[in-house]
Amino acid sequence: MSEETKFDVAVIGAGPGGYVAAIRANQLGLKTVLIEKRKKLGGTCLNVGCIPSKALLHMSEHYEFAQHSAKANGIELGSVELNLGTVMKKKDKVVSGLTGGIDMLIKKGGITRLEGHASLKGNQKIDIDGKEIQATHIILATGSSIVELPFLPFDGEKIISSDHGIALKEVPENLVVIGAGAIGLELGSVWARYGSKVTVVEFLPKIAAGCDSDISKLLEREFKKQGMTFHTNTKVTGAKEVDGKLIVTAEKKGKEIEIEADKVLVSVGRKPYTENLGLETVGVETDEKGRVKVDAHFKTNVAGVYAIGDIIAGPMLAHKAEEEGVALAEMLAGKAGHVNYDVIPSVIYTEPEVATVGISEDQAKEQGIDVNVGKFPLAANGRALATDATTGMAKIIACAKTDKILGGAIVAKGASEMISEVVTHMEYGGSAEDLGRTIHAHPTISEAVKEAGLAVSKSAIHSL
Ligand code: FAD
Ligand code: NAI
Repeated sequence: MSEETKFDVAVIGAGPGGYVAAIRANQLGLKTVLIEKRKKLGGTCLNVGCIPSKALLHMSEHYEFAQHSAKANGIELGSVELNLGTVMKKKDKVVSGLTGGIDMLIKKGGITRLEGHASLKGNQKIDIDGKEIQATHIILATGSSIVELPFLPFDGEKIISSDHGIALKEVPENLVVIGAGAIGLELGSVWARYGSKVTVVEFLPKIAAGCDSDISKLLEREFKKQGMTFHTNTKVTGAKEVDGKLIVTAEKKGKEIEIEADKVLVSVGRKPYTENLGLETVGVETDEKGRVKVDAHFKTNVAGVYAIGDIIAGPMLAHKAEEEGVALAEMLAGKAGHVNYDVIPSVIYTEPEVATVGISEDQAKEQGIDVNVGKFPLAANGRALATDATTGMAKIIACAKTDKILGGAIVAKGASEMISEVVTHMEYGGSAEDLGRTIHAHPTISEAVKEAGLAVSKSAIHSL
C-alpha cells in the first residue's frame, strides 16, 4: 500500500462527531482522512437535522409574530402572506453556507477527504467503493437513521419522516405527529405556526418525556394555546384511507380514536446507523439496540477501531458527538481527552424553549437523592414582562447536603443560550448559592436563573 493511502487516523462519517474528530486529530499532528458518503459534509446535524430545523423554527416564529402579535406591538401590516418557497430556499442557503464552511475547514486544514461508502475490511483496512486505504486508528462516526413504524412505512408523501418534514412544498391542512419528543414538538411547532392543524400522539403519559412533570405540563398547556392538540397515553395502531382521506387510528385508554390527516410525521426516535459498515466482517460488537459497544476510551472490542456519536450509547445530540470527537482525537494523540457525561445540556427549540442539564427533580426522587429545589417564574421577571416572554420558569436542583448544583431546567424564550450558565456552574462544581450570588445584568431573563439559585435556600428576592 502506498504512503498516500496510509493514515494515522481514518474517520468514517462527517457529522459533528466525525468532522470534529478529524479536525482535532489533524491539529494534533496526526495524518487524517475523513470519509463521507454524502456529497456535503456535516452529517445529519447540518444537512437534515439541527440546522435546517432551527432555520425553520426561526422563520416560522417571524410569520407567527406577523400574523398574531405585530398588531398588539403597534405594527399594522395588512394581510400577511406565506411564501413557503422562499422559506425553503433560505433554509437551504443556511445549510449550504454551513456545509461549505466545514468543507473549507477540512480543505484548508490539509485533511484528506474521500467521498463514498466506507466499510471495514480487517487488518485496519477500509474499502471505499472499491478503493482501499489503511489507518492505524479507525473512528466509526456513522451516526443514526430514522426509526420507521412497521405498520406505517414512510412513503415520503403521506407518511413522512423529519427528512421530509423539513422540506414540505405546501402546508398540510391536518398534520398528525407521532411522538412528542424533540422532533415532534419542534417540527409540530413549525407547521402549526404556518397554519396546519397539528395533532400530536404520544405513547407516554407526558410530552417531552425527559423533563420533570411540572415542565411537561407547562409546555403542553402552552402548545395547546398555540393551537396544537395532544393525545398522551395513546398508542397509534395504524392508518387507513377512507374516501381519499388518511385516517390515523390509535388506542387511548382502551378506546379506539380516529384522527384525520393529510400527512403523518413519524418521529418516534432514531437508531444507530451501521448498514454495510462491515462490523460483522471484523467482529465489532453491538448492544441490544444495535449501538456499537465501546469502553471509556471509545475503544470497540476490535483493536484500533473506535466509535463516537449517535452510533454509541448516550443522548443522540450533536454537541455530545462533538465532545466525543475531540476527546478521542486527544486520546489518540497521547493526551487526556475527557467527556463529562453528567453535564450535557439538552434543548427543545420550541416557543418557549426548554433547556435542561444534569438530573431532574423526578430523577432525584427516583434515585433517592436528597435535593433542594429552587424555582422562579418568568412572570416575576422584569425583562420577560417587557418583552412578552413571561411563559416559563427557571429551576435549580441542588444537593440537600452540599448545595452543589446537580441539575437545572429553564423554560423560556432563549433558554438554549441561558442554560450554558448552569452548565458552567456545574462543570466547576458550583453551588446554588454561587449561582444566586453571581451578578446578572438587569434587566435580563437570566436573572430568573440567579433567582432560582437563591430560591434553593428560600432566599429569592422577587418571589415568595
Ligand atoms: P451524523 O450527524 O448522523 O453523521 C454521520 C455521517 O456519517 C452522515 O453524514 C452519514 O452520511 C455518514 N455515513 C454513515 N455511514 C457511512 C459509511 N459507511 N461511509 C461513509 N459515510 C457514512 N442534536 C442537537 O444537539 N441539537 C439539535 O437541535 C438537533 N436537532 C435535530 C433535528 C433533527 C430533525 C434531527 C433528525 C436530529 C437533530 N439532532 C440535534 C441530532 C443530531 O443531528 C445528531 O445527534 C448528530 O448529528 C449526531 O452526529 P454524528 O456525527 O454521530 O452522526
Ligand atoms: P425522541 O426519542 O426524542 O422522542 C420520541 C417520542 O416518541 C418519545 O416521547 C416516545 O415515547 C414516543 N413514541 C415512541 N414510539 C411511539 C409510538 N409508537 N406511538 C406514539 N409515541 C411513540 O425522538 P425524536 O423526536 O424522533 O428525535 C430523535 C433524536 O434526535 C433524539 O434522540 C433527539 O435527541 C435528537 N433530536 C434532538 C433535537 C434537539 O436537541 N433539539 C431536535 C430533534 C432531534
